[in-house]
Amino acid sequence: MIFNASGCLDALEAPEVARALDVFVTKTVTPQPREGNRPVRIAETEAGMLNSIGLENPGIEALFADKLPQLAQLGAPLWVSVGGFAASDYAELCAALDDRPEVAAIELNLSCPNVEEAPESASEIVHAARRETRKTLYAKLSPAAADLQDTARAVQAAGADGLTLVNTMRGLALDDTTLQPRLGRETGGYSGPGLKPIALAAVYQCYRATGMPIVGMGGISTGRDALEFLAAGAASIALGTILFSDPDAPGRVRRELADELASRGLSTAEAATGLAHSQGPVSVA
Ligand SMILES: Cc1cc2nc3c(=O)[nH]c(=O)nc-3n(C[C@H](O)[C@H](O)[C@H](O)COP(=O)(O)O)c2cc1C
Repeated sequence: MIFNASGCLDALEAPEVARALDVFVTKTVTPQPREGNRPVRIAETEAGMLNSIGLENPGIEALFADKLPQLAQLGAPLWVSVGGFAASDYAELCAALDDRPEVAAIELNLSCPNVEEAPESASEIVHAARRETRKTLYAKLSPAAADLQDTARAVQAAGADGLTLVNTMRGLALDDTTLQPRLGRETGGYSGPGLKPIALAAVYQCYRATGMPIVGMGGISTGRDALEFLAAGAASIALGTILFSDPDAPGRVRRELADELASRGLSTAEAATGLAHSQGPVSVA
C-alpha cells in the first residue's frame, strides 16, 4: 500500500494526488493551533531538503470543523497524525479522534526535530494514547535514536499496533555567500534521497526486533526504492519529499513496483516483505 508521508501533501489542494494513494495521512495536528517556526522554513540541499515548518497547523477543533469532513470525501482511508508537548496532549487528541468514524488510524508523531519534544518517553506517550482510543495506533519514530530497537520494543509493549519509520533527521544548510544558516530556525529536518540508507536500516532493525507492521519512508522516489523498503520489512511505503517535485509519483511508483515484483516472480507486495532477512520473514509477534 502506498501512503503519503505526513506533511508532504495537502490533499485538499491536490485531491487528484491524494486519490492516487491507498491511504492519506494528515499533517500533524496539535491540540491548539500553531503558527510554526519563523521563515525561511524550507531549503534545498545537494541531496534532499531541510524543513523547519515546526508543526504549523490549525489545531484539532479546526480540523474537525473544517478539514475532516472534506478529507473524508476523498475516499481513501484517512490517518490522522497527532503531535504534542506532553503525553497528555497525545491522550487528549486520541480521545477526541476515537469516536470519529472518518478516521481509520492515528499516527503518533513522536519525532519532530523542529519542536521541543514531550518530556515523557515514547512508550509513556503510547501508553497514555492507548488508554484513550480503540483505533489502530502507529508510533512514528526518529532514526536518530541510538536505541531505536529498544524504543520500538517499548512502544510495542505499550500498545502500539505498528511503526512509522522514519521521520526526518536534524540537518543544517549554510548560505553560499554569508555562511549563515539558511533556515530561520537554523537547523531543520533533513529528508529525501540521502535519508534512504538510514531509513532502510531503521526498518530492517525494527522489523527484526518487533515483527510489527511498518510504514516505511525516507527518500523513496522509485519502485525499486519501494521494493527495498518492503524487503527490509515494511508492509507499506510512504512518499514524502518526492511529491514536491513529482506529484505523479504515487501512480509511477505503483507501476514501477509492480514491474519490480513481477520481474522477481512475486505476486504481491506482501510476498516481498522481509525478504532481506536471511533467516526469512519474521513472524508477527
Ligand atoms: C515539508 C515537510 C513537512 C513535514 N511535516 C511533517 C509532519 O507534520 N508530521 C510528521 O510526522 N512528519 C512530517 N514530515 C516528515 C515526513 O513525513 C517524512 O517522515 C520524511 O520527510 C521522510 O520521508 P521522505 O524522505 O520521503 O520525505 C515532513 C517532511 C517535510 C519535507
